[in-house]
Amino acid sequence: MRDYWIGTSYLLWWWVAQSNKTLYSSFVSSVNSLRNWHLPLISRASYKRGFLSGSKTLRQEESTLIAQVCCGERIGRELFQKKFLYQHNIRRAMAWLSRGRNQAELVKALKENGLIKTERVEKTLLAVDRGYFCKYRPYEDTPQPIGWNATISAPHMHVTCLELLNEHLKPGSKVLDIGSGSGYLTACMGIMVRPNGLVVGIEHIPGLAQQSVENLERSQRILLEEGVVRITVGDGRKGFPEEAPFDAIHVGAAAGNVPRVLLDQLAPGGRMLIPEGTSEQELVQYDKAKDGTISKRHITFVRYVPLCSPEQQIRGM
Ligand SMILES: C[S@@+](CC[C@H](N)C(=O)[O-])C[C@H]1O[C@@H](n2cnc3c(N)ncnc32)[C@H](O)[C@@H]1O
Repeated sequence: MRDYWIGTSYLLWWWVAQSNKTLYSSFVSSVNSLRNWHLPLISRASYKRGFLSGSKTLRQEESTLIAQVCCGERIGRELFQKKFLYQHNIRRAMAWLSRGRNQAELVKALKENGLIKTERVEKTLLAVDRGYFCKYRPYEDTPQPIGWNATISAPHMHVTCLELLNEHLKPGSKVLDIGSGSGYLTACMGIMVRPNGLVVGIEHIPGLAQQSVENLERSQRILLEEGVVRITVGDGRKGFPEEAPFDAIHVGAAAGNVPRVLLDQLAPGGRMLIPEGTSEQELVQYDKAKDGTISKRHITFVRYVPLCSPEQQIRGM
């Protein structure tokens, strides 16, 4: 009974902490200690399956852990699977549990876990096989190394960004993908803006840019041939003035401070998604109204590689 109440208070605390960075950090340290002295309550099986990986980023595991502490592993998992807790923004915790043996199974899992919301995004993800864009565990919902100290982002982050940008990725839209890395999200956005649209992917490491072009050639050659997707080597912090303004800007690396120039390159009615921060990061959405005013919205806490110089990235900052 005592464990039940401890678990329930943690669940409530986590819920409240969602909205506030400081509260969230204290929650993370507290769950770290909870993990140590409450470990016997958590099944060895879930520990071995990697839910409790020892990472400081607890977002993907914290509510599974708490639900297990509260209700036992089986009931905790069932609560999530029945979508009971989704309305309360707990679904992100399930994100990292999505996996499959191929792209179709991964997409199915992302949909069942409440991450994919629209048919348009679902169809796009089905069309772009992650297996062409990363060598390791492509059908698991985790970031994977792609070389040069960079990673392809986790599928749930790609889904989150595509859903948030959906209305801004119309046929004919112009899009800037900064830190295009593997080219996966660039390809997805390319499919969504076809025909007559343009997605410019900027990557500052020439080897990564070359690799992403090869990935695109194997997966979605048509996008390159039609000129819908263009990969360019450059410093994404400067944006891409040659093609500005953009209906959507996605930044795939975390900026300490949002470069003003990127907001200037956003078209009226446009939307930018950017991870902000250094050790603590949040995904932020900027919307530019028709009259040019900018509004800002917190989406979720995240962990991305920094938006930096190639030298900083290679030496691992
Ligand atoms: C998380 S990774 C890749 C994200 C990409 N959406 C994907 O899923 O493959 C972020 C990328 O940003 C790139 N990057 C970091 N700083 C940059 C900068 N100043 N200009 C352009 N690219 C940058 C890195 O090289 C890396 O490829």
